[in-house]
Amino acid sequence: MKQDLIVILDLGSTQNTVVAREIRSMGVYSEIHPHDITVEELRAIPNVKGIILNGGENRIVDGQAVEIRPELYDLGYPMVSIDYPQSKCATQLAGLPDREKLKKFLFEDCKAEANWNMKNFIEDQVELIRSQVGDRKVLLALSGGVDSSVVAAMLIRAIGQRLVCVHVNHGLMRKNESESVVKVFRDELHANLIYVDASERFLGKLENVSDPEQKRKIIGGEFIRVFEEEARKLEGIDFLGQGTIYPDIIESGTKTAKMVKSHHNVGGLPEDLKFELVEPLKQLFKDEVRACGVELGLPHDMVYRQPFPGPGLGVRCLGAITRDRLEAVRESDAILREEFARAGLDRKVWQYFTVVPDFKSVGMKNNARVFEYMVIIRAINTADAMTASVEKVDWDVLERITERILAEVGNVNRVCYDMSPKPPATIEFE
Ligand code: XMP
Repeated sequence: MKQDLIVILDLGSTQNTVVAREIRSMGVYSEIHPHDITVEELRAIPNVKGIILNGGENRIVDGQAVEIRPELYDLGYPMVSIDYPQSKCATQLAGLPDREKLKKFLFEDCKAEANWNMKNFIEDQVELIRSQVGDRKVLLALSGGVDSSVVAAMLIRAIGQRLVCVHVNHGLMRKNESESVVKVFRDELHANLIYVDASERFLGKLENVSDPEQKRKIIGGEFIRVFEEEARKLEGIDFLGQGTIYPDIIESGTKTAKMVKSHHNVGGLPEDLKFELVEPLKQLFKDEVRACGVELGLPHDMVYRQPFPGPGLGVRCLGAITRDRLEAVRESDAILREEFARAGLDRKVWQYFTVVPDFKSVGMKNNARVFEYMVIIRAINTADAMTASVEKVDWDVLERITERILAEVGNVNRVCYDMSPKPPATIEFE
């Protein structure tokens, strides 16, 4: 193993990720683990140089203060505790230790080396994946999103053709998105990739369904069914690769913190399709996942792409999805992305897309009255997607985009710009 490691045990702190990132910023790899880790589990983690017992406001769970297993004190690891009154080791004053103290703990007490970087991280994960998987096979649902793409690239490096990727095109992808997944993974990285065009099947199921939650349920449920059907056709697969990243774990709830939202990377497959999970990114934060993707040689556009909802353009073609409006969303989105890139806004704006509502308005084309759809442009900035502000897009850029949409996209006679921040609006329309 290349990297030294500091283990942070979560004893109810709300600052676990802050401590983890602080340590990583000093060049030492750190991982967050639950407070009740066993001696065996701890020993199975390679290169542990020291442990931080990280207490805090969520220390009381079901009326009881959480504790580490007392045997952990006898293992000989340098330990320090933060905000954990029952601790039997050196204790900080409540709150985060200052940088100097943390540095002293890492480099003097633990004698850790500052050897955390993406190259070493990848080498370590490749070794861990190989020892976990042996000569068996891993299945991966490759959506083309950042996390699944990076995990695929990592698994390809570790086990090559013994990774089987399944890409399901649900017909709600952006223009050329599925094609680019096939190009990058099959043609360039030579992945063992199964491409399933399930567009007709999804669009059929979604016909006349206008309720947004119902649309989401159908898309999510159908996705699992298609993936399951493909998995059943394959033989000798024991593992499921997943692009779980650390924020997914936190949001799904930990032993000391409540769930924010269930994260949909996991689960949904029937009981008899039981796989062991391979999750090499589960200790990384989003920016680190991107850096990992770059190091693995993925194209910049794939690694730095803006967030895209799982139900895809389905939630931007408002109300019951029709093929003409879906095409209008797809084409206008492609124009918007092209023009944003040309204006350099693709690297500045957090998320930008178009939406097509399910009503028409009157207009004029070739001196005749037309009754057609409208395209709404939305471009927002945010740090965490909880609140968002609207990007003040240059007027000339908006005019060019409008001209192109009106000239190139069928059935559209009007373009609007959404000026609403979140809250009260949300980022997506449904
Ligand atoms: P809202 O609309 O809630 O969006 O302000 C916040 C962020 O989440 C994305 N989003 C989704 N992502 N599945 C996803 O994977 C979904 O169903 C979904 N809905 C919204 C949205 O694009 C924005 O970045």
